[in-house]
Amino acid sequence: MSRIAVVPGSFDPVTLGHLDVIERAAKTFDEVHVLVVHNPGKTALLPIAQRVSLIEQAVTDAHLQGNIVVTSWSMGLLVDYCTDVGASVIIKGIRSQVDVAYETPMAIVNRDLAGVETIFMLPNPAHAHVSSSLVRQVAALGGDVAPYVPRSVSEFLQAPRD
Ligand code: PNS
Repeated sequence: MSRIAVVPGSFDPVTLGHLDVIERAAKTFDEVHVLVVHNPGKTALLPIAQRVSLIEQAVTDAHLQGNIVVTSWSMGLLVDYCTDVGASVIIKGIRSQVDVAYETPMAIVNRDLAGVETIFMLPNPAHAHVSSSLVRQVAALGGDVAPYVPRSVSEFLQAPRD
């Protein structure tokens, strides 16, 4: 039986820290679904389809394994998606104790709801200070986000717009 894991998040936009976790997950599980989910608690910068496309490009550019699916979910609970695709595990990247405190209640609720376990994965500490919200702020104020995001994302964010 193939072991499927879901890596969910806002990915607004995907960062090098996210990509690091996605790569580690792909080495650990047979199949990994990177799932872009709208978080109503956050003000979005990019449309969901754009986030999916940027992740796909980053995964391709990084030559990650061919067992990664990138998609989005807006039909309800995260665990409903997990059940639909037969995923028994959710992977979350943990940068600090703050992330543990944020993620733990969701992990327990997801297990209560559908028996889906959450595994906390530690990214490379080099990315510990990187967050999508920081990237959004630096980009909005004209700063260089290249050290924090895949090249496709920095090119997209820094491209001139009308
Ligand atoms: O990157 P984020 O914003 O921290 O990701 C949070 C996300 C989108 C994974 C979380 O809000 C989520 O799982 N939303 C889906 C709705 C749901 O299932 N809620 C109950 C989970 S406790």
